[in-house]
This record gives sequence, C-alpha cells and structure tokens, in this order.
Amino acid sequence: MTEYARLIIEDQEYKLPLINGAVGDRAIDIRKLRQESGFITFDPGFGNTGSCKSSITFMDGEKGILRYRGIPIEELAEHSSFVETAFLLIMGRLPTREELTTTSVNLNDLSLLHENMKSFYQNYPPKSHPMGILSAMVNAMRSFHPELVENQEDLQRTFLRLISKVRTMAAMAYKFSVGQNPVYPNPNYSYCANFLHMMFDNPVIPYRVDKEISDALNVFWILHADHEQNCSTTAVRVVGSGKVNLYAAISSGISALWGPLHGGANQAVIRMLKEIHTQGLKIPDVIKKAKDKNDPFRLMGFGHRIYKTYDPRAKIMKEMCDKVLKRTKTKDPLLDIAMELEACALSDAYFQDKNLYPNVDFYSGIVLRAIGIPTNMFTVMFAIGRLPGWIAHWNEDFNDPEMKISRPRQVYTGESLLPYTHIDKR
Ligand code: CMC
Repeated sequence: MTEYARLIIEDQEYKLPLINGAVGDRAIDIRKLRQESGFITFDPGFGNTGSCKSSITFMDGEKGILRYRGIPIEELAEHSSFVETAFLLIMGRLPTREELTTTSVNLNDLSLLHENMKSFYQNYPPKSHPMGILSAMVNAMRSFHPELVENQEDLQRTFLRLISKVRTMAAMAYKFSVGQNPVYPNPNYSYCANFLHMMFDNPVIPYRVDKEISDALNVFWILHADHEQNCSTTAVRVVGSGKVNLYAAISSGISALWGPLHGGANQAVIRMLKEIHTQGLKIPDVIKKAKDKNDPFRLMGFGHRIYKTYDPRAKIMKEMCDKVLKRTKTKDPLLDIAMELEACALSDAYFQDKNLYPNVDFYSGIVLRAIGIPTNMFTVMFAIGRLPGWIAHWNEDFNDPEMKISRPRQVYTGESLLPYTHIDKR
C-alpha cells in the first residue's frame, strides 16, 4: 500500500507518495508537485534532495557508517584490494578469483597511452596543475577511442580502459612536471605497485616497490573509491544525464573534485599545516581564526555535509599515518601538528556543537607525503581512487529507465520586465 505525506498549501491538500530506502532512508516523492500545485521546492546545495535511487553506497552520517554494496569500509580496507573494490562497485558484487585475474590482466593490457597523447603533456605550461591536465586528458580519450559501445562487454572494457589509463596519465603528468621521461607500465606489477613504479622509477635511481607502501596505497584508494552523491559524483551524473560519452562525464567529475571544499581539501590541509609549522602559529589561535565568522578561514579537513560524527575513513587514514611513517622511517612534524589541532578542535564547544570532526582529507596528505607524492598530485590521487565510484554511478544512471536529463528549476529574483534601451541612451 502506498504511504503518503500530506502537504497543505493555502487550504489545498496534496498527497505526496513516500519512498522507503533499504536501510532506513525515507523520502517524499515530489515529482508531480509542480504539475499539481504550481509550487517547486527550494534546496540550494541539495542538502535535502534525493536526486536518484542508488544501490551502490550506503552512508549513515550520524553513526559514521560507510558501506560499498553493503560491505563495511573497514572490512574492505582490511581484506580487499583496490581492483577488487572497483569490481564490486561497478559490477555490484565481489568477483570470483577467475574474474579478478581477468580484470587484472585486462588492466595491464590497457595501460599504455596512445603515443600522440604525450604531446599534450609536452605543450602544457610548466606549472600547470595536474588536475587540469588530467581532466583534459580524460576528455581527450574520447577522440582516441571513438569506437561505439554496443553491448555490456564493450562497456566493461571502456571502464577498464579508463581505470587503467588514468593511472598512467597521472604518473606521466608527474614525470613531465619534474622534467623526466615517462616510465612505461610494467605488466608484472599489481595496479598500485605499477603506479608507484611509473611515478618514482628513473634510469639513475631504480625504484624498488615496497609491499607495505603499495598496500597502503591500496587502502588509500579503497577509502576514496565512492561516497554516494558527493559534488563530483553528482557532476558525473548530471553531465552524464545529457547522454554524453563516459569520458566527458568523468572529466567533469575530475574538475568538480579539484575544488578545495571537495577533493582539493587534502592539498589545502597540508598547506594549512605547513603554514602553522613554518610560521610557528599557536594551535588555539588557529582554532580561534577558524571560528571567526568575519574570517573566511576554515579548518581544512574538518566538517562534512553528511558525517556528523568521526568520518570512518579518517579513522583508518589516521592509523595508516602511523604505519606508513614507521615503514618509511620518517618523522613528519605535520602529523604532530595535525593531532594537536584535532584534539584542540574536538574539545572546543564550536566544533562540538556543529558536529565538526576530521574528514578523510585531514590525515590523507600526511600519508601521501610519506609515500613521496608531491602536494600538487594529492587531488589526482583522490581522483584515481574515486574513478570506480564515478563509473558505477554513471552506469547506474545509464541503465535506469526512470532517469531523466538533469534540469532543476529556480526561483527567479531578477527584473520582471525591462524595455531594451539603445546603447546611445544608456
Ligand atoms: N572550519 C570551521 N567552521 C566550519 C568548518 C570548518 N572546517 N566546516 C563547517 N564549519 C561551520 C560553518 O561555518 C557553518 O557554521 P554556521 O552554521 O555558523 O554558518 C557550519 O559549520 C556548517 O557548515 P556548512 O558550510 O554549512 O556545511 P556544509 O555541509 O555546507 O559544508 C564542508 C561541508 C565539507 C564543505 C565544510 O565543512 C568545509 O568547508 N570543510 C572544510 C573543507 C574540507 O575539509 N572539505 C573536504 C570534505 S571531505 C572530502 C569530500 O568528500 O569531498
């Protein structure tokens, strides 16, 4: 039996059907509201708007729960690999051993870039941000792979091509930025180890991939692999809803992720921690500045639209900081500052009242620094990790008969009607 919400506007009652999710989410279906009442809903930032039904990722922001296809993030971080998690997100279930092997073989087969793509890198201005390059390169892939996708098998190959080549593109962007020749992928390595190889190997000092570091990178990417309807995923879905090709939709996701309020926060956190360190700032002063309404400064890596408790990814990332620093035998003063900042913020009434806790980006930069990833590549690392999630969401929309082109309404606040005045009379 359909349940309804009753909405009364100016004595007129409207019955709006209720929708129940699998794990407690409840929604009011307003699809016919405008047609029946003339009213639209108003929700800037979509904080209260469900844009789709999705079976990919479940989050409970109050309890700090994150599950991919029902599996807790903690279990995936402990037992899975990034490639297996990518399969899970996109295909909706864990792979068999044979499927996982085939996926890894295909990822290796598809890892090379078309040689002509190198000229893009060579012609970018030297200080270009790698996120801008990555977004452009992914969009360009459509021109290098224009073949029609005619069935599910073609589509899966396109997904794998993207997952494999994005990693090569990212490492190549780094190599060009430091004036070195690109290192080609080595089919003997796993997905994560191959990335480290392409990033850090060079003819003078060969890079030996450390298993523990490669495992840490696996966890890093698993933690970033999906986060339901966040800003960049929404960008992918909205752009994809126009039935644009996958590459263009993913390229828009990369651009959205670049912003400091989203994936760019990991870079912003390190900038903030470095400033505190080099300028010798006192932690209570930093906290005071973050609380000041007249100051645009915010504590980067703190707060989240959904999590009103500790981000479960941040917990795992914090533990990983210790492991990676121990393994690389580094002592990072930024970790001490981060921990002091966290302790001070969590005991402050402002942060407590607003439920502001560390998010995934608070400790991720310290892990990446220890691995040797330069700061301007941090958001690229996030993008490689988020790619399976973007693909899974694009695919979900693509196969959903209920999905329509995204086209929100607005409440117009401009002039109602003005006559045109000729330029001589203005
Ligand atoms: N430092 C100080 N105050 C904060 C912070 C912060 N980091 N985050 C939120 N607030 C305050 C904010 O000023 C507001 O106060 P008031 O109600 O008095 O106006 C209140 O908390 C609610 O914040 P909001 O901006 O309305 O919340 P939102 O859901 O729109 O924004 C956010 C979420 C993540 C953009 C925000 O918390 C923020 O800017 N954090 C810092 C940037 C950051 O770490 N981003 C990474 C997010 S996790 C990675 C990802 O998934 O993208």
